[in-house]
Amino acid sequence: MKPFTIAIDGPAGAGKGTLARRLADHYRLNLLDTGLTYRAVAHALLQVGLPLDNVSAAETAARQVDLAKLDRAVLSAHAVGEAASKVAVFPTVRRILVEKQREFAKTPPGAVLDGRDIGTVVCPDADIKLYVTASAEVRAQRRLAEIESIGGTANFAEILADIQRRDERDMGRADSPLKPAADAHLLDTSEMAIEAAFLAAMAVIDDVLAKRDKA
Ligand code: C5P
Repeated sequence: MKPFTIAIDGPAGAGKGTLARRLADHYRLNLLDTGLTYRAVAHALLQVGLPLDNVSAAETAARQVDLAKLDRAVLSAHAVGEAASKVAVFPTVRRILVEKQREFAKTPPGAVLDGRDIGTVVCPDADIKLYVTASAEVRAQRRLAEIESIGGTANFAEILADIQRRDERDMGRADSPLKPAADAHLLDTSEMAIEAAFLAAMAVIDDVLAKRDKA
């Protein structure tokens, strides 16, 4: 049977990472947070002090990305996320990473991939496409709570401005901008706990799986 693919897209902080993890566990699928691949490229440049608009260095770093060696602890830093959205505008860098992401999706039994262009570009034939969103204010509030829960301090207005800047960059770029695929199921988590989003996603997926079993 063809590998099963769940594509999850949405802006930073909408809860798609948590949802992707829950779904991969539940359906026993492989999991790829594609944001980490762009972060790995940005991190490689930052580490050697190269500017983020050095396209040929970014291409070399993209070729060297090993999906089995993405270190979330190192790559999750806020500054790396910002930098990632800068290298993510280059079509040649995207092409190299998308190729690796597609190979990953093909591996049986299939995968949950989350990012910005999974349903539109990476896996346009995905069995399920989810677009997870939430208002910028709610996402900023969640980020603030997350920082405070680990004893940090931050300013709501700054976080909000950051999120809005990242949204603009991701939605406004020419190549593979963030947008819902025409056939994506929309999940607005602004007023929905992650558990409710998980249940809503499961209902959609179980329906598709039941039809696939009958076919
Ligand atoms: O999801 P995360 O915040 O880790 O992604 C970091 C950045 O990588 C995003 O802001 C976006 O610019 C880029 N990205 C992308 N396409 C993806 C995943 C992430 O352009 N599929």
